[in-house]
Amino acid sequence: MSYQVIARKYRPAKFSDITAQGHVTRTIQNSLRMGRVGHGYIFSGLRGVGKTTAARIFAKALNCQKLMDDPEYLQQVTEPCGECESCRDFDSGISLNISEFDAASNNSVDDIRTLRENVRYGPQKGKYRVYIIDEVHMLSIAAFNAFLKTLEEPPPHAIFIFATTELHKIPATISSRCQRFNFKRIPLEDIQKQLQSVCDAEHITVEGDALQLIGRKAQGSMRDAQSILDQVIAFSAENDHEGAISYQGVADLLNYIDDDTMFDVTDAVVAQNPAKMLDVAQFVIKNGYDEQDFLEKLVEHLRNFLVVQNLSSTRLVERPDAVRERYQRDAGNFSPFAVMQMVDFIMQTQKELKFQFEYQFRFELALLKLIDIVHSVSAEAAGVTPPQKKKRLTSH
Ligand SMILES: Nc1ncnc2c1ncn2[C@@H]1O[C@H](COP(=O)(O)OP(=O)(O)OP(=O)(O)O)[C@@H](O)[C@H]1O
Ligand SMILES: [Mg+2]
Ligand SMILES: [Zn+2]
Repeated sequence: MSYQVIARKYRPAKFSDITAQGHVTRTIQNSLRMGRVGHGYIFSGLRGVGKTTAARIFAKALNCQKLMDDPEYLQQVTEPCGECESCRDFDSGISLNISEFDAASNNSVDDIRTLRENVRYGPQKGKYRVYIIDEVHMLSIAAFNAFLKTLEEPPPHAIFIFATTELHKIPATISSRCQRFNFKRIPLEDIQKQLQSVCDAEHITVEGDALQLIGRKAQGSMRDAQSILDQVIAFSAENDHEGAISYQGVADLLNYIDDDTMFDVTDAVVAQNPAKMLDVAQFVIKNGYDEQDFLEKLVEHLRNFLVVQNLSSTRLVERPDAVRERYQRDAGNFSPFAVMQMVDFIMQTQKELKFQFEYQFRFELALLKLIDIVHSVSAEAAGVTPPQKKKRLTSH
């Protein structure tokens, strides 16, 4: 049996299957309905959020015979039909009306000349040829310039879609000639839903919280989420005869530092308990977690406190309910100012750790120092000097 990775197997085939990019798909569908299609587009945004996918569906729609022949279908459905000859050619990857060009590996002026030559020829079938130019920010300035003329006077059948993760690297001479669409990071909830529907379709049982863990790791990229899910499925099949996906299984696979450990840090601060803090530091070091990663998570943990303190609600905290309740409960242990102080200090530490030896030792010290920061803040607020014992902790 040939195995297809999830990201490809579940690649959306219609505009309406694209998650979280409604602002883009709606505009494109409107332009199709009104027959006002431009010649240059820039699709920008994070990796794996649907840029190439949207470009392909757009190309398919532009050449769909049903959309061309049936005005009512065009107005009311505005999706590639998936059944006409052109759509079938697209689906089986043999359509000549779409060319994908990877600017990361073909970025010389010569490459652009070849592309320009190619653009002169119209489509044999259908109406438009769509050129998707991926990673367009990798083109050299000379290559961009060689392209400008084509973009100024494109043949009527040619449509260019420039995809990039780094919009700021595209010269204004190019971007001002294009319609720009900014693809969003995909919200955790939407990623979770999408993963759930993949699991349903694949008949895989899964704990909801496990998918949230995967989604969080993916940080807004659907492709990343789906790749992690592939890995998790393989891992679970090996370790559990049922092949079910558990929260713990995912946490193990991702070598995930769980929320409890983060609360251990803030608990140690509240209790002014350096021994407990050292235990946490040792736990991180012994388990081979990356210290920078840990500090990154710690900043996110503190950010959750700030959110709860400022909104008096946990609605922006992306965690399972039990964990949200804990944030709600613990938020009163610190003033927002003290939390900010800790965040500042950790961010500073992250920078410094990059340049230091005795890495683990510094990491331990930094965690210990958090206790001191918070308690000198609250002591100052109360108009008292911090007691001698705590002072010792900062004297390194
Ligand atoms: N918005 C989305 N809705 C549904 N699935 C998506 C979405 N974005 C990405 N995917 C999934 O991720 C896969 C990769 O997406 P795509 O190739 O469109 O990403 P991209 O934005 O072009 O990324 P890159 O910058 O890395 O080229 C798709 O095959 C699809 O399965
Ligand atoms: Mg792409
Ligand atoms: Zn069609």
